[in-house]
Amino acid sequence: MSYYLGIDSSTTATKALLMDADGAVVVVGRSEYGYETPHPLWAEQAPDLWWDATRTAVREALGSAGIAGTEIAAIGLTGQMHGLILLDESGDVARPAILWNDQRTEAECDEIRHLVGRQRLIDVTGNDALTGFTAPKILWVRNHEPEVFERSSTMLLPKDYVRYRLTGSVAMDKAGGSGTLLFDLAARNWSPEIAEALGVPTSLLPQTFEGTEVTGVVSDEGAAATGLRPGTPVMAGGGDQAANGVGVGAIKPGIVAVSLGTSGVVFAATNGPVFEPEGRLHAFCHAVPGMWHLMGVMLSAAGSYRWFRDTFAPQVSYESVNSAAAEVSPGSNGLVFLPYLTGERTPHPDPNARGAFVGLTVRHELGHLARSVMEGVAFGLRDSAQLMETEMRIEEVRVSGGGAASKVWLQILADILGQPLQVIDQPEAPALGAAMLAATGDGAFDSVAEASSAAVVLGDTYEPTSHADAYEETYSVYRDLYPILRDSFGRLSDLED
Ligand code: XUL
Repeated sequence: MSYYLGIDSSTTATKALLMDADGAVVVVGRSEYGYETPHPLWAEQAPDLWWDATRTAVREALGSAGIAGTEIAAIGLTGQMHGLILLDESGDVARPAILWNDQRTEAECDEIRHLVGRQRLIDVTGNDALTGFTAPKILWVRNHEPEVFERSSTMLLPKDYVRYRLTGSVAMDKAGGSGTLLFDLAARNWSPEIAEALGVPTSLLPQTFEGTEVTGVVSDEGAAATGLRPGTPVMAGGGDQAANGVGVGAIKPGIVAVSLGTSGVVFAATNGPVFEPEGRLHAFCHAVPGMWHLMGVMLSAAGSYRWFRDTFAPQVSYESVNSAAAEVSPGSNGLVFLPYLTGERTPHPDPNARGAFVGLTVRHELGHLARSVMEGVAFGLRDSAQLMETEMRIEEVRVSGGGAASKVWLQILADILGQPLQVIDQPEAPALGAAMLAATGDGAFDSVAEASSAAVVLGDTYEPTSHADAYEETYSVYRDLYPILRDSFGRLSDLED
């Protein structure tokens, strides 16, 4: 029996998932790390963290499964998207990586819209300029650290830095490439027009590959560090959202993947380069060769709930907080939570957006606050789902991510989306997706669809209940609040230390 390895370099941990050739998950190795916020709005990581964690997680996975590196037939990579890694001429990292959740580039986003024209930018890349994307980060380095920019010769994304250390090859997947804002969405490749307009030298941009294509093989150094076999093929894989789409089976239009992770994502595959005309949804290449996808991203989903519990009830278990929320009726007794704790992307692209509890009274207790956080996140996901529905019919919703462990939250989400939800029990769906892409590229499956039939396991279903109607009025209040508070949020962020 041969095995496939999916490596996910996420924001807080590297996961190494081993899948057998029938699509069954054998084991997941894991190594955690943190990230730095040296200034307000900044988020950075040293790329070495990902490589060290890859070595640990891969060795742990092989060791606990009792599998030799020689039994791994191919490797697929995934990881946090949009992060900027710059390498100098000698292949060394030129500065710490600037991550997807870094919000420092508002001025550079304006600069990009000015240089390209907002509508032209959307027409070519499928997307408006958002602070999280990679191109504004390149411009930020040029504007603020010109000496770093001058000595940079290659740009990579986090997963591609791991690829570089594992294989020595400089390469990128097309899903990740399209998240840089330098891609021609329809052509599935770099846009010379956008690169030239922004003054980004095309020599910085690596060759891009479809998710199942081989990008290189494990080098002697990579093998010595990880216990893998030199010469093992490494497939392109995909950005974490595209790989998650593969790992939950969102590989044809109509199946919508909702991810309740730190961020919250509503994701759907498309057969062509479809984009929302105003750029309010992200439109990227899928990790499935020749497919694309749309997605709405909220920045604090399960992240909001973790913040709430850590701040207001650090001694109370998640189970108890969930039970307190379950006892409260829909609408949290007139309380609404806005989940914009780290700014927002969809549907309000605003790095200065702030979180809020609106409607607090002395009658509200912990359970009301907890439930309103769950409801506010679900309302934010509904905002994205509604935008998605302008482009396609939603036929099936599949939910994954840490928040999907909460039954009360899943029921709230089914009621607020007004759709049945199918739970995916695999918490490491991006790493599974990466392993599926490697297995397909290696010929274990004829297509990603065949890999999906073998490997994706569906769990419980949650049907909308009569509570769905009760949420309509609260959702309408929720929708009204951001436009009313937007200016205040901007003024408050000016007051931040
Ligand atoms: C997607 C996005 C996040 C990161 C973090 O656009 O920014 O999902 O990839 O994992």
